[in-house]
Amino acid sequence: MYQSAVMVPMGDWKKTRLKNLSDTDKIRDNSKVGSGFGKNISNWLDRDMAYPANVLHLATECGNKSHSAAFPEELPEWFIKLFTKENDTVLDPFMGSGTTILVANRMMRNAIGIEVVPEYVKMVKSQIEPVELYLCEPKKRKYGKAKVGRRNALR
Ligand SMILES: C[S@@+](CC[C@H](N)C(=O)[O-])C[C@H]1O[C@@H](n2cnc3c(N)ncnc32)[C@H](O)[C@@H]1O
Repeated sequence: MYQSAVMVPMGDWKKTRLKNLSDTDKIRDNSKVGSGFGKNISNWLDRDMAYPANVLHLATECGNKSHSAAFPEELPEWFIKLFTKENDTVLDPFMGSGTTILVANRMMRNAIGIEVVPEYVKMVKSQIEPVELYLCEPKKRKYGKAKVGRRNALR
């Protein structure tokens, strides 16, 4: 996991909230609801970046992608950043309109998409730069002769 890739700037909160720390802010303050979570605000004093909250706030996808449940691109982008580096491979077993595949390609990752509806497969294939297709394709191919554009292959 590459958590530092999804860190966000501390922002104005650092300038205001951390200016005057109370005694409680300097020790671990356990949640009053008994959740087991707690915080020590003073831990944030020397930090410029923070991990994001555990809820992602992203704009919904409004463009017509010919699919009823297309993701906003920021969603796969966030997880691809968190879990992969360039040249790694992203697998989307429910490809739909191919948002994850296209974002993975843009981020220089290999991508494999699986989709049960042939129309969506055809649509995604037409969006991805024409490249040699392999794996699950009926024709036999020789391995070890991949072209530079192979990264964009829809398998
Ligand atoms: C929520 S949509 C995915 C949307 C996609 N993330 C996008 O941005 O377009 C789920 C997709 O999974 C496909 N699907 C459902 N069951 C499947 C299965 N067993 N194997 C492969 N694809 C499947 C559906 O046809 C649908 O397109």
